[in-house]
Amino acid sequence: MGSDNKYYITTPIYYPSDRLHIGHAYTSTAADAIARWHRFNGKDVLFLTGSDEHGQKIERIAKDRGVEPKAYVDEIVGTFKQLWDKYDITYDDFIRTTDTRHHKVAQEVFQRIYDKGDIYKDTYEGWYCTPCEAFWVETRLEDGKCPDCGRPVELIEEESYFFKLSKYAERLLEHIKENPDFIRPASRRNEMVNFIKSGLEDLCVSRTTFDWGIPVPFDEKHVIYVWVDALTNYLTGAGFLDDEAKFAKYWPAELHLVGKEITRFHTIIWPILLMALDLPLPKTVFGHGWLLFGDEKMSKSRGNVVDPMELADEFGVDAIRYFLLREISFGQDGSFTREALIERINADLANDLGNLLHRSVAMIDRYRDGVIPSGGSFTELEKALQDKARQTVGSVGGHIDRLEINAALASIWRLVGRTNKYIDEAAPWALNKAGDHDRLDTVLYHLAETLRILALLVKSFMPTSAAKMWTQLGTGKNIETCTIEDTTWGGTEPQTKVQKGNPIFPRLDPDEVHEDEDRKEKPEVEKIQKEAEAKPQADTKPMVSINDFAKLDLRVAEVVEAEPVSGADRLLCLQIKVGAETRQIVAGIAQHYAPEDLIGKRIVVIVNLKPAKVRGVVSEGMLLAASAASELGLVSVENDIPSGAPVK
Ligand code: MSP
Repeated sequence: MGSDNKYYITTPIYYPSDRLHIGHAYTSTAADAIARWHRFNGKDVLFLTGSDEHGQKIERIAKDRGVEPKAYVDEIVGTFKQLWDKYDITYDDFIRTTDTRHHKVAQEVFQRIYDKGDIYKDTYEGWYCTPCEAFWVETRLEDGKCPDCGRPVELIEEESYFFKLSKYAERLLEHIKENPDFIRPASRRNEMVNFIKSGLEDLCVSRTTFDWGIPVPFDEKHVIYVWVDALTNYLTGAGFLDDEAKFAKYWPAELHLVGKEITRFHTIIWPILLMALDLPLPKTVFGHGWLLFGDEKMSKSRGNVVDPMELADEFGVDAIRYFLLREISFGQDGSFTREALIERINADLANDLGNLLHRSVAMIDRYRDGVIPSGGSFTELEKALQDKARQTVGSVGGHIDRLEINAALASIWRLVGRTNKYIDEAAPWALNKAGDHDRLDTVLYHLAETLRILALLVKSFMPTSAAKMWTQLGTGKNIETCTIEDTTWGGTEPQTKVQKGNPIFPRLDPDEVHEDEDRKEKPEVEKIQKEAEAKPQADTKPMVSINDFAKLDLRVAEVVEAEPVSGADRLLCLQIKVGAETRQIVAGIAQHYAPEDLIGKRIVVIVNLKPAKVRGVVSEGMLLAASAASELGLVSVENDIPSGAPVK
């Protein structure tokens, strides 16, 4: 199965539980660069992305917002597509698990495995992590919490269908051993091998306590477990059950690119499902690391998620793409900070590449009226530059084949560095002054030609900037349709006219790039802030930025129980519902409210305050109240806003 010249690459299908953040954009940007590189190398690429729309998590979110799950996902999925357009993600197909074509595949997969005898009915009694949509046996929990995300798990008991994972454990271990590229990087392979060796339980593959999913074909009160539904998207996207020729051509996938926390699903459950279906396994599952904010995990509850749309508006998409792919060692965790981003933009993009283009085009403009001369005879210096360009093309290919994306970019930037050095060594200004025209022609041609090759090399990573380079170099051919063959030395036609333009990566002044401010409106914003600070201040606390405020997670909550705290006559212990979750808070309001008057009230609570013990009672949040003299009033919300809704 599968033709030699094809490359089937997938991203995970994202949960429409919220808008996507820069961590998600990282996965898709990496996949896009790899897909583009393979197309550039003449491969027939199928690049699939999409959305994972079923399951308890999505159903609960939609319920909390008071909308139907389908209406809710439709809206969020629209924002995914806008984001991918903005980031120049060239996916060939976008699969939604609510697509009819997928419904059919997920049901057929379930049916076939059932018919084979690998799915059986039993009762599940155990733990479930809804944010991860993962089942856990008690022994794998850490401090009673989900070992993957650290959040609380729920005890569930329901009739379920089970899939015989354990039956295939030995066969999977054998496959991993014989195919060292199946799980990458190696550190994750070792983790997975240990996980399998510690014993695989049969997997619960259906749920009955909610509806938002694809029904089990032969028992409609069950919906298919969302991970089984989600993983089979890779078959749907390749044309399974729909287009035999397409499926024969593209399956198995060359690469499933996933984040490290979902490697387990892709390297244990997924291959075993495929074994049960008698289908070949994907060549590689690569589990990349996390993009951290500074050294913290990015999460909504920490208030540190970075909006990829805003970031791209502020710095330009290519700068962000470059930063993500260059800064983070592919496979390991890496850190996003604005300082590091600005540093990369200034050093690598503005100084090294941008300046190389700018000064080369400027010299061709000044010394040769903008016309690239012919190369003429060359010396050892030029020979070394040509060799370096050739060698770089090979090394970038090797790195991408080994999924070393950051190393591929580092290699391109060594050629950039070498070319900048070449300018210093060849000193075209001195040749001009000395009237050494032949030699000056040689140097200018070599600069234009190396830059042409550089534009081709960077186009998979920074497509818009590569096109801008191309335009300034005046190259006639369409860069979009150029392939690796075009990197052969000598592609620049003498007499080509360059088009001097603005620097493609303007330098940023780190002191001028302030968080939270639209740079274009900065002077005005500063003026307003200064005026505000200069005004006589009421008795207020020092000013905070919108980011500081955004760190607080304020929610509408409904009081469901209230009782006094023994031995503390000012305190009440409340049970509150925040969306689907119930939690307990302790509040110093006993002298103002009787417990029974609080039941049913919808109040405002900070839900991401670190839990504390108040008089020995655990409090998981804090309600908001206003007080003056001896009066106290709870903060509540107008209109019928459901509990769980954010307050901002
Ligand atoms: N729906 C599942 C995937 C099903 S695939 C059959 C899922 N969705 S997700 O939206 O939660 O995550 C999608 C991808 O985004 C994962 O690969 C995850 O690792 C990645 N990332 C989410 N946050 C991230 C970072 N902060 N850094 C890097 N990748 C991150 O899981």
